Amino acid sequence: MTEKQKNQLGVLLVGSGSAVPEQIINNNQLASRVDTSDEWITTRTGIRERRIISNQESLLDLCSTAGSHAISMAGWDPQTIDLVILATSTPDDLFGSAAKVQSAIGAQKAFAFDLTAACSGFLFALVTAAQYLRNGSIHRALVIGADQLSSWVDWDDRKSCVLFGDGAGAIALEASQSENGLIGFKFKSDGRRGDCLTLPQKRNFEQLVEGNDFQQGNFSTIQMNGQEVYKFAVREVPAILEELLNIHQINSNSLDWLLLHQANQRIIDAVAARFKIPQSKVLTNLANYGNTSAATIPLLLDQAIRVKKVKKNDLIATSGFGAGLSWGAALIRWHG
Ligand code: ACO
Repeated sequence: MTEKQKNQLGVLLVGSGSAVPEQIINNNQLASRVDTSDEWITTRTGIRERRIISNQESLLDLCSTAGSHAISMAGWDPQTIDLVILATSTPDDLFGSAAKVQSAIGAQKAFAFDLTAACSGFLFALVTAAQYLRNGSIHRALVIGADQLSSWVDWDDRKSCVLFGDGAGAIALEASQSENGLIGFKFKSDGRRGDCLTLPQKRNFEQLVEGNDFQQGNFSTIQMNGQEVYKFAVREVPAILEELLNIHQINSNSLDWLLLHQANQRIIDAVAARFKIPQSKVLTNLANYGNTSAATIPLLLDQAIRVKKVKKNDLIATSGFGAGLSWGAALIRWHG
C-alpha cells in the first residue's frame, strides 16, 4: 500500500434497497407474441420471467423506493446525504433523472447526477461515489442502478426481447476512518467492439432552414449481436476478475460470493467454473428478473442481504459488463 493510499479514508457499504415492477411477464406469454418457447428461453438463458413497468408504475418510483429502503437500512436522515448517483441508460429525461430522485427521497442537501455505462453502470457509479468519499470531500452517498429497457426493446425481435427486465437497486455508502469495504476495482472500455450492442439514435435529418438540416432526436430499439456479446462476456469477465484477484492477492477460495451481471446463466456458470467457485457461492436471480441492466448488481445484492445470505463482512467478487463495450470488476465487503 502506498503512502497516498494509507492517507485515504475507507468506504463502507452500510445499506441496500431495491424495487421491481409488479407486472410479471413469463416465457409462455412472450411465446404468444414472438416465435419462441419457454423451453428455448429457459435452456439457452436460464430466464423464466421478467418484471416490466406498466402504466401504473414508473422507473423514478422504483428508484425512490429502492433508495429509501437503502437509507432506512443505513439508519440515515436523508438530509445528511451529500451525493446521489443514478446509473441508468434509460432516464425519463435526457438531461438526467438523478435530481428528481434526490428530491423524491428528501436528500435536499445532496448534489445528484446520472451516469451511463449500460450494464456496467452501477459499478462505475459505485466507484465514482467512492472517490468523493475516500478523498474526504463528502461523507455519505447513495448509488442507484436502475433501468427500464422494456421501453427500448424490439418486442418483435425474439433474439433480444426475451432477455431483459426492469428494476432498481441502491447502495448507501459512507466514508470511514478505519475500515474499507471497497477493496479494489478494475474497469475497461472498448468502443471498437461497441457495435455488437447499441441503442442508437435514428438518423432522421430534417430541414432546419433552406439549405441547412438538423437531426431530429429519436432513438431506435436495442440492436444486439447476441453471440458476439456472449463471446465477449465469457472471455473478458474471467480475465478482469483474475487480474483483480491477482492485484489484491486474493485466492478465489476465500471469496464468500460471486455476484455477476445477470445476462445469461451459461455465462455465469462458465465464469464460476473458471474460478472453481461452487454454485452455493454464486448469487443469481436471473430466472425471475432477466437482465435488468444497471439495476442487476444492487438488486441481487439487496435481495441476498435481505434473506441473510450475504452477511456482515462477507467478501464479494462482482463484475458488470455490457454495451460500450464496457466491463469491470470490484471486490467489496458488505458492512451492513
Ligand atoms: N426463441 C427461439 N429461437 C431463438 C430465439 C428465441 N428467443 N432467439 C434465437 N433463436 C434461434 C436463432 O434464430 C437461431 O436459429 P437458426 O439456427 O435457425 O438461425 C438459434 O436460435 C440459435 O441462435 P443463437 O443466436 O446462436 O443462440 P445462442 O445460443 O447464442 O443464444 C442469446 C442467444 C441467448 C442471445 C445468447 O447469445 C446470449 O445470451 N448472448 C448475450 C446477450 C447479452 O447478454 N446481452 C446483454 C448484455 S448486457 C447490456 O449491456 C444491455
